[in-house]
Amino acid sequence: MPKNHIGPDAILQKKSEYLIPCVYHFYKRPMQIVRGEMQYLYDHTGKQYLDFYGGVSVMNAGHGNPEIVEKICEQVRTLQHTTTIYLTQPIVDLAERLAHITPWPLKRSFFCASGSEANEGAALLAQLYTNKHKFVAVQQGLHGRTKLTMNLTGLQMWRTDPNPLSDVIHIPGAYCYRCAYELTYPLCNLKCAGFLEDVVKSGDFAAFIIEPIQGNGGIITPPPQYFTVIREILDKYHVLLIADEVQTGFGRTGEMFALEHWDVVPDIMTMAKALANGSPIGAFITNDKIASSYTRPGASTTGGNPVSATAALATIDVIEKYQLVQKAKDLGNYLKDKLLEIKQKHSLIGDIRGKGLMVGIELVKEDKIPAIKEIDYILEDLKNHGVLAGKTGVSRNVLTFQPPLVITRNDIDRVIEVLDKILLSTEKRP
Ligand SMILES: Cc1ncc(COP(=O)(O)O)c(C=O)c1O
Repeated sequence: MPKNHIGPDAILQKKSEYLIPCVYHFYKRPMQIVRGEMQYLYDHTGKQYLDFYGGVSVMNAGHGNPEIVEKICEQVRTLQHTTTIYLTQPIVDLAERLAHITPWPLKRSFFCASGSEANEGAALLAQLYTNKHKFVAVQQGLHGRTKLTMNLTGLQMWRTDPNPLSDVIHIPGAYCYRCAYELTYPLCNLKCAGFLEDVVKSGDFAAFIIEPIQGNGGIITPPPQYFTVIREILDKYHVLLIADEVQTGFGRTGEMFALEHWDVVPDIMTMAKALANGSPIGAFITNDKIASSYTRPGASTTGGNPVSATAALATIDVIEKYQLVQKAKDLGNYLKDKLLEIKQKHSLIGDIRGKGLMVGIELVKEDKIPAIKEIDYILEDLKNHGVLAGKTGVSRNVLTFQPPLVITRNDIDRVIEVLDKILLSTEKRP
């Protein structure tokens, strides 16, 4: 082991002594990750891993992408931080760029340091604009870890707040594989979307916040027309639509932003994660009219600082130059086709869903019982075979692939081959 790498045991020891215990990690036998190169990560022993989780949908342009790293380094050497009390150029260049790549009349941005902060700011903006105070969100959603965003979060696992707010109502998401109403699309008439009307008709609601595809919820992908119904209801009751694109943005789903698949326009959109390919950043963007309601001072100390803004600009350059949005679409279709092929052989695969390179495989036993123990074997075995994947879902039984968008068909073939073998051996386990 190189002497500057202390190794997993020493890290675990320090972690247990110095980190707040809420910081959890994957794997029974975790490795120390020391280096990344595009779709690959390397551990302290030099072992290579094909990263099919991308740091939870962050590294869309690949680990250590040289075209991004160069620009970050140049910016760090030149000017790192000033705050927005002084004028700098990268923040306005980035805002202009976002206004151009968002296909809607979304034009004015506010920059901060994380997805939670972006959602918190978006919620505040919705309250300022509507003069209303309540929010609706979906039961399978995750929106952050601040007081309000943890309350907007529906997933129980991430709702640690011992004193929950009463201003947030959660409705069932469009989880067709396990429909809350035991109905089937399209005969269901989108009852789950329609239920929103029962909630918002009281008139107290500022906004409905939703991830177009609920990532942590298990890559829950609403059917066609879902967002059209949602938009109509929200317009009827003057409630804003906040699209949380923190996990789905920047090409991940085969469109620059996931809501484009449904051709519906949000009032406010939030971004983070892949926006700067691993540099801490968050942002929300809205139209002129809504933006004009937020005039009192607002700031986030490191929000839109020259380094994160430069990293984001360089990331968008790479996404466009290498057509990563189209690549995500094509490779995502290829990956799904291959998964559907192996599904025939494996009773553990209950459902395959998602768009582009945001794919969830819900693992189940008989009668759709969540395969909770099995997914842990599979994740560990995949890791031992040099493949990293994620785990999401209400019951934490959804094997999740969100690789950097720079992967190849060969990478997909390799993952499928390994997964096929591991599923077979898992199905044989007592
Ligand atoms: C959809 C979504 N929104 C918000 C967040 C919170 O972002 P952050 O961890 O950057 O605060 C996350 C994080 O996982 C997320 O997946």
